[in-house]
Amino acid sequence: PARIRTHHLQRFKQEGQRFAMLTAYDAMMAEVFDAAGIEVLLVGDSAANVMQGSASTLSITVDELLVYAKSVVNGAKRALVVADLPFGSYQVSPEQAVHTAVRFMKEAGVHAVKMEAHAGLAAHVEAVVDAGIPVMAHAGFTPQAEHQLGGFRVQGRGEHAQQVLADAAALEEAGAFCLLVEMIPAELAAELEASLRVPTIGIGAGSATTGQVLVWQDMLGLNQPAQQGGRLPRFVKQYADLRGIITEAVQSFQSEVREGKFPAQEHMF
Ligand code: KIV
Ligand code: NA
Repeated sequence: PARIRTHHLQRFKQEGQRFAMLTAYDAMMAEVFDAAGIEVLLVGDSAANVMQGSASTLSITVDELLVYAKSVVNGAKRALVVADLPFGSYQVSPEQAVHTAVRFMKEAGVHAVKMEAHAGLAAHVEAVVDAGIPVMAHAGFTPQAEHQLGGFRVQGRGEHAQQVLADAAALEEAGAFCLLVEMIPAELAAELEASLRVPTIGIGAGSATTGQVLVWQDMLGLNQPAQQGGRLPRFVKQYADLRGIITEAVQSFQSEVREGKFPAQEHMF
């Protein structure tokens, strides 16, 4: 099947067709999601959380995320592969943003990059776009700015909606091909989807966006913080219980090993 490209996402919006994006960090899951028909794979800096066990995304480095990105590119035949630019790798200057984005295109072979941005970083987005690299902008709640935003909180409520609208307009103007919005009121996301030419992708942003994204370990039930006294964000829906499936399977393996049932005759030489 032909590769999904940025103009296809634009066309999905025009034709009123929704699309799905999932995170991926390794070749095998990327291959599974791609074969299942998922249109966009995001090599998120959420790798810091779900692959490395960090509490925040701030710690992951460019060199670390490049490894995951290259793996996802190797596994994806059809999906558009987008990589996050890690915290600190694009905020310093437009030149730094171009330098980092070029590394993801050249060394990992991704098809686009994602930058957490606002009107004040529009020049950085524009510089990357000018270098020939498609940029997905990420606004609303931006996890890399967690400490400035006062924790994981819904953004753009009440009078703050104007700021999100202004940021979105500036990022579209800067050339972003798509706007991802995280944890904003559904009504504000609907207004953004209607007012922008580019498609929006939501996470905790209601149902009016052209696309929806989730972290795969969350939506497949591998990440179940409730087991450790935590909780998943309200916007997560668990479509499977991978943690349960895996636990049962590895315990069966362990029992069969203990009982001498595995390996059986057919597994022997
Ligand atoms: O890093 C990530 O997984 C993301 C999505 C949650 C949007 O940025
Ligand atoms: Na991210």
